Amino acid sequence: MSDSSSWAAIRAELSGPAGLNMGWAAADRHVALGHGEAPALRWVGRDGAERTLTYADLAEHSSRFADALRRLGVRRGETVFTLLPRVPDLVVALLGTLKAGCVAAPLYAAFGPEPLRLRLALGRARAVVTTAALWRRKGPLDVPHALIAGGDAPEGTHDLAALLGAADPQVPVAPTGPDDPALLHFTSGTTGAPKGALTAHDAVVAQVASARAALDLRPGDVYWCTADPGWVTGTVYGVLAPLACGATVVLDEGDFDTARWYGLIERQRVAVWYSTPTAIRLLMRAGDDLPRRFDLTSLRHLASVGEPLNPEAVLWSRRTLGRPFHDTWWQTETGSIMLANRDATPGVLGAPLPGIGAEVWRPDAEGVGELVLRPPWPSLFRGYLDDPARTAACFAEGWYRTGDLVRRGADGLFRFVGRADDVIKASGHRIGPFEVESVLLEHPAVAEAGVIGKPDPVAGEIVKAFVALKPGVAWSDALAAELLGHARRRLGPALAPKEIAVAPSLPHTRSGKILRRLLKARELGLPEGDLSTLEDGAG
Ligand code: WTA
Repeated sequence: MSDSSSWAAIRAELSGPAGLNMGWAAADRHVALGHGEAPALRWVGRDGAERTLTYADLAEHSSRFADALRRLGVRRGETVFTLLPRVPDLVVALLGTLKAGCVAAPLYAAFGPEPLRLRLALGRARAVVTTAALWRRKGPLDVPHALIAGGDAPEGTHDLAALLGAADPQVPVAPTGPDDPALLHFTSGTTGAPKGALTAHDAVVAQVASARAALDLRPGDVYWCTADPGWVTGTVYGVLAPLACGATVVLDEGDFDTARWYGLIERQRVAVWYSTPTAIRLLMRAGDDLPRRFDLTSLRHLASVGEPLNPEAVLWSRRTLGRPFHDTWWQTETGSIMLANRDATPGVLGAPLPGIGAEVWRPDAEGVGELVLRPPWPSLFRGYLDDPARTAACFAEGWYRTGDLVRRGADGLFRFVGRADDVIKASGHRIGPFEVESVLLEHPAVAEAGVIGKPDPVAGEIVKAFVALKPGVAWSDALAAELLGHARRRLGPALAPKEIAVAPSLPHTRSGKILRRLLKARELGLPEGDLSTLEDGAG
């Protein structure tokens, strides 16, 4: 079977009476197949409480959600954001939004008011689903409809439970085709505001194909993805792909905690586990005795994504957990996993999945070049919202350019080398330095700001800021703490810098851009490289 025909077969498998709809494929399809009573979602609350929703439950609740949107006047193609902790209503809202033919845009609850405001505006939010606590904490958010989960809806907002109670449990799903927009994920590059990457309903075809091929996911598997659905991994592989595959999805409301995590695997009998290198390094740091106290024999396949997986983590997991973590590579724009390491060879990203063409573009003498992929494939993004120029810049000579540098070994497998740009990966989260710099520049003491990723043994990188001060302002520990506090209040803990340092002036290119590459080289004590683009005297 050729790969495009296997995509065609999966597309046919996932399509329903109304066409191809991600939300329908993830919930209602299983009901139509007679599996409505199978457990779809196993929610584990912060305090250990558990709740199970069947596929029939998800289909019903998401239908009600879709109907509630219609009653509010939210129309097809309009954008509905989620800003929620990891609770079942998040899954219901995502699926219901998709079934209504609206575009689902997940936000991370650890974002501060500034990134939220920006994303809601860029995405032309028609509604946001959130909690009363988050709604109050994030300050006034400009959106026509706020739907409040968990009760206590403030004035001017809607109570989600009341809306769902009054809505139709069986509205027909909106007729969508493979090319209709479905998901909007904001992501960052080196410069400019965050970009809203749009993927279409057809993405579910590649999500399912990749979950089967790279995560070894089978119907009925208990599956746990530790990523928050506010990030692309948590939406695509935490909710949509595993549900479309007919797995039982574990959703843990709690934060990272070593013993809690091992206990969850034991208690839920998790078979397939998708996590990140930062989380794996935190587990490693907690030692080998702890996992031995738990029964982890249910684990069948472990996979990792988001940042470089260090070889030691692969060896450790094989030795200590009984199974190795398999690296996988993808990004928001690719919409699904592109490369996977089937044999869990340490230090290797892996090979392209069936149907995906990958190459090292313009390799240097060491064989290092940019990873490029041959379009199209079903989950490839359909463009950055309102930004055709930045979309076009991702494509060249018939390739999609990933911005990652890789090398291919004699075995044909890809190895990760680094980013070709200044994008930061802190705990696997993709952070654009520009967004952080802009908030630092709001502070009256700051003349210039440059932000880099500083290597960190656990988080991979942490956000470090360099500032030059306005004339007459003196640097002090108090000012450093004030600037870090300002950034944290505006950006939230996920994006804010962890370290800050002062410099008399920051290095610029001749065109006036801050040379983060040089800031980083200096921070690391590395050779400063080719400085020919440096502004005179800025070194
Ligand atoms: C990086 C997250 C090394 C890479 C799914 C990519 C990785 C960016 C790996 C996308 C990996 C992802 N090894 N680096 N296995 N997987 N990356 O859009 O730089 O948040 O371009 O998507 O994460 O980040 P994004």
